[in-house]
Amino acid sequence: MKAFVINGSPKGERSDTLKVTKAFLEGLEAEYEILDISRHPIKECLGCHACWYRTPGSCIQDDDMRLILDGIRSADLVIWSFPLYCYGMPSQAKAAVDRLMPLSSPVQYVNAEGKTCHPTTKPLPARHMLISGCGFPQYEHNYEPLIMQFGLAFGSGFARITALECPLLSVPEAKSLADGYLALARKAGQEFKENGAIAEDTQKALDGPMFDPDTYRRMASATARA
Ligand SMILES: Cc1cc2nc3c(=O)[nH]c(=O)nc-3n(C[C@H](O)[C@H](O)[C@H](O)COP(=O)(O)O)c2cc1C
Repeated sequence: MKAFVINGSPKGERSDTLKVTKAFLEGLEAEYEILDISRHPIKECLGCHACWYRTPGSCIQDDDMRLILDGIRSADLVIWSFPLYCYGMPSQAKAAVDRLMPLSSPVQYVNAEGKTCHPTTKPLPARHMLISGCGFPQYEHNYEPLIMQFGLAFGSGFARITALECPLLSVPEAKSLADGYLALARKAGQEFKENGAIAEDTQKALDGPMFDPDTYRRMASATARA
């Protein structure tokens, strides 16, 4: 298996989400490449549709988006690794998702789930998965818009890790909590390698907060300047 990781955190290598992603990759034991969007800025889609009509399959903008398109074309698993920003993906990652247009055609059809779609121009082997960290200690009223959008873009039933209280991964005093969470992410990678999916109990543990939510909220609030 070949995994292609798109690190969409503006913090690049310092991304807490990336720590979870690297633990998952350790468990996956696959060949992988990580492309860091903070070091390979992606321009916004121009909305010109040249990639459909004038230069089918390629974008007229010359930037590192071609590295993402090549990575997706040659991978078996594409891992989108980015933090939750305002209930969605960071703008840099969204620019990359918008710029996937060259992979599809203007044809519209209705898929088995009743959703209107554009087909890919060539069959793509890759499954897409999401690894995302966030700053709040709860999933509800927080992750729903991103999960909905990701499923519509890449197909429902995708594997995901949504890491609540993710900044704890950088707090030295919380090392034991972080180690426990990263061990779970490693286990998820092993399970994905063996079964193509994360086991139910591992998923449940990954979905929970690392630390008591009330205490976490109090600690996070205490960092605010008066
Ligand atoms: C602009 C911005 C928007 C954010 N929006 C949310 C949000 O909607 N929900 C949430 O739980 N955390 C939110 N956060 C917190 C980040 O998701 C959190 O700090 C995350 O751990 C950062 O991950 P990273 O280190 O991988 O970049 C936001 C942070 C920023 C800077």
